[in-house]
Amino acid sequence: MTDRIEQLADQMTLEEKVSLLSGEDFWSVPAVPRLGIGKLRVTDGPNGARGGGSLIGGVKSASFPVGIALGATWNVELVEEIGAALADEVKSKNAHMLLAPTVNIHRSVTNGRNFECYAEDPILSGELAVAYIVGLQGQGIGATIKHFAGNESEIERTTMSSQVDERTLREVYLIPFEWAVKKAKTWGVMSSYNRLNGTFTSEHNWLLTDVLRREWGYDGVVMSDWFGSHSTAETVNAGLDLEMPGPPRDRGQKLIEAIQSGAVSEATLRQRVVAMLRLMQRVGSLDDHRPFAEAANDRPEHRALIRRAGAEAAVLLKNNGALPLRGDGSIAVIGPNAKIAQIMGGGSAQLNAHYRVSPWDGLVAALGEDRLSYAPGCTNHRFEPVLRGSLKVEYFANEQLAGEPVHVAMQDEAQAFWIGHVADGKVDVQHFSARISGTFTPETSGEHRVGVYSAGFAKVYVDGKLIADAWTQWTKGRTFFEEGCDEVVGTVGLEAGRAHEVVIEFATKDFATLGLAAFAAGIGLPLGNQAIADAVLVARNADTAIVFVGRNGEWDTEGSDLPSIQLPGRQNELIAAIANANPNTIVVLQTGGPVEMPWIGSVAALLEAWYPGQEAGNAIADVLTGAAEPSGRLPQSFPVKWSDNPAHSQDREVYPGLDGKVRYEEGVFIGYRHYDKVGTAPLFHFGFGLGYTSFAVSDLTVDDAEFEADGQVMVGVTVSNTGARDGATVVQLYVSDDTASVPRPAKELKAFSKVQLKAGESRQITLPLDARSFAFYGEKSRHWLVEDGSFTLQVGLSSVDLPLSAQVHRQTTLMLPV
Ligand code: BGC
Repeated sequence: MTDRIEQLADQMTLEEKVSLLSGEDFWSVPAVPRLGIGKLRVTDGPNGARGGGSLIGGVKSASFPVGIALGATWNVELVEEIGAALADEVKSKNAHMLLAPTVNIHRSVTNGRNFECYAEDPILSGELAVAYIVGLQGQGIGATIKHFAGNESEIERTTMSSQVDERTLREVYLIPFEWAVKKAKTWGVMSSYNRLNGTFTSEHNWLLTDVLRREWGYDGVVMSDWFGSHSTAETVNAGLDLEMPGPPRDRGQKLIEAIQSGAVSEATLRQRVVAMLRLMQRVGSLDDHRPFAEAANDRPEHRALIRRAGAEAAVLLKNNGALPLRGDGSIAVIGPNAKIAQIMGGGSAQLNAHYRVSPWDGLVAALGEDRLSYAPGCTNHRFEPVLRGSLKVEYFANEQLAGEPVHVAMQDEAQAFWIGHVADGKVDVQHFSARISGTFTPETSGEHRVGVYSAGFAKVYVDGKLIADAWTQWTKGRTFFEEGCDEVVGTVGLEAGRAHEVVIEFATKDFATLGLAAFAAGIGLPLGNQAIADAVLVARNADTAIVFVGRNGEWDTEGSDLPSIQLPGRQNELIAAIANANPNTIVVLQTGGPVEMPWIGSVAALLEAWYPGQEAGNAIADVLTGAAEPSGRLPQSFPVKWSDNPAHSQDREVYPGLDGKVRYEEGVFIGYRHYDKVGTAPLFHFGFGLGYTSFAVSDLTVDDAEFEADGQVMVGVTVSNTGARDGATVVQLYVSDDTASVPRPAKELKAFSKVQLKAGESRQITLPLDARSFAFYGEKSRHWLVEDGSFTLQVGLSSVDLPLSAQVHRQTTLMLPV
């Protein structure tokens, strides 16, 4: 802590101090002009820097691979490089801090936000988070690791209490945060929306003060998730420095009164203020007085990095020789994701990408259009496609669309996410109405579906007739972070080539937690049997068929969990029909997690490509053609069926929650630890992935000279590329406690290394283990313990391909400092 910060804190009035503990608006903390203190600006993350403004639209940004894709790279150097590149992006948006990384753990396969998080395993998540933060903060931009803690589902997330025992918290859910504090020295932490064992995390003293600050030595800032703090003295006393967003709700004047009444002490206030000033000094905002200006920097080096990372994230799950593509035969490009680039998930992580390369575009660039043919086959959207075109928006300063509009604007799509300054500031964002009007000209005549969903009330009229009514029929659903209704759909017959008039009426309504006004309206023509038949014909006439299926950011999104892990729409049917028509069928899956695959036995190859960012199609084409080696490995087990997943239960209290509580009953046995325990094999194992070359591990050496003293063990292994192509693999080291006095997982990942080798090359690598690699958290002793007894180390190339093993022994129990 510097003298300057102490001096500034000394000089501040009570009002000035309090002003630093709440946002000014959605994305900033106010300046203190009297003392020359600049404004601190934050921006979402994690797969880019969206900048100020709304979640939709905004200044263009680079779109990087999402969290689960980075998880699949298992490459800490690459993730550090991405962290550094993201710092450039944050700077281009005039911000100082990125609201990232997201490190909640993949507990349930249905969590809507798994795409944004790295893995089901705490060590993999922790190491990648550290790399990301080191990369980012190395360039002077603050990280805000989130959401601390227990936010593993989006269902009722702003009120739900995650019931998690301390051992499970310590061994699984807190690890990425602990690593981020201890190893990466993160400058920011965001508390989660949920309660943890009954108390909101934003006012959880044990979490924010005892564990985070006292045990781990954290000296950064804790901010609330947006609208996720609900009290004044409680949050400040528990350790929440910053209430977000602004303007203040529970602070400002209320906090001044709490200090005057003694409910918050001067000393506590000073601690919070000093933490804020320290952060401002670290990120440079203390002296940043530049006017706010955002830039869209589409840099070639970011394009190249995103393409490389996207390819490295792809996991080859099956290959009977169909890949890489060989020869010059014809290729049928099929499926709903073929010509639509699925580059990211939904929610606050979304941004306005510089561009989006679809798989079709990527294949055309790599192979030329002459060899390709195309058929969509079916759709996979959750909502009707958003109406686009020139739309007039009339704003009314009342909720009845009454009188004259106070502001008129144009927009080019029938969706809005109104926050902050709306209609030039002429309406109150929580109390206004709007009429949006334009036209829709169908390509094909037929019965169209008209859909609308809204946080607020909305109606859609086509040619003057009410078709979709989310106004009188509004009921709470799973859109807009649970502030919106589910999509309301009506149908109407439309004529090809005719400009049909579309009018959408919107009005704000009371909200539950998040003060949102938002809607989306779309029109679509359902694809029927003929579309599948057409695709089959295209597949039959080609040498190879590639089917691009999966989900999109409407499904894999913040604010709602998945209803199941079935591929949406008729995609299973489409894949089965194509595989039946062409034995050389390759499936490219783009999802934020596993799906059930009834067709897996009948396809020639399967590649999971996630949401790889703006270069999606190029990255996928690189892997398909063999320009890049598939070296991604699963960061999450892919079960045969949803009910195999540990969080799946008949008991709603285990998932998705009952009466406001979700019980983490499986404890430390999540992911592969669960499948090991119950003996049910997943369809594809954690850590698994194929390549176009082959690898072997040999010559395991274990140096445990220091084990008895301080728990350190050095594990050496030789990795060889035994194939004919250059490539990369992930060496994985798992530890088992053979003589544990408490139930422990059969094995736990404790170290890993991504190794790039030329054809025929071998390399010796060392995987270091520390005492914690052997420890469990003793509930009664409330300490990490390495018990006396024997431990098995297993090394290999996935969680089930572990050909090398060795044992180490301890004679005495070691109690580790927290
Ligand atoms: C999300 C956070 C995000 C914040 C600001 C919240 O809804 O949970 O991850 O940073 O909004 O957009």
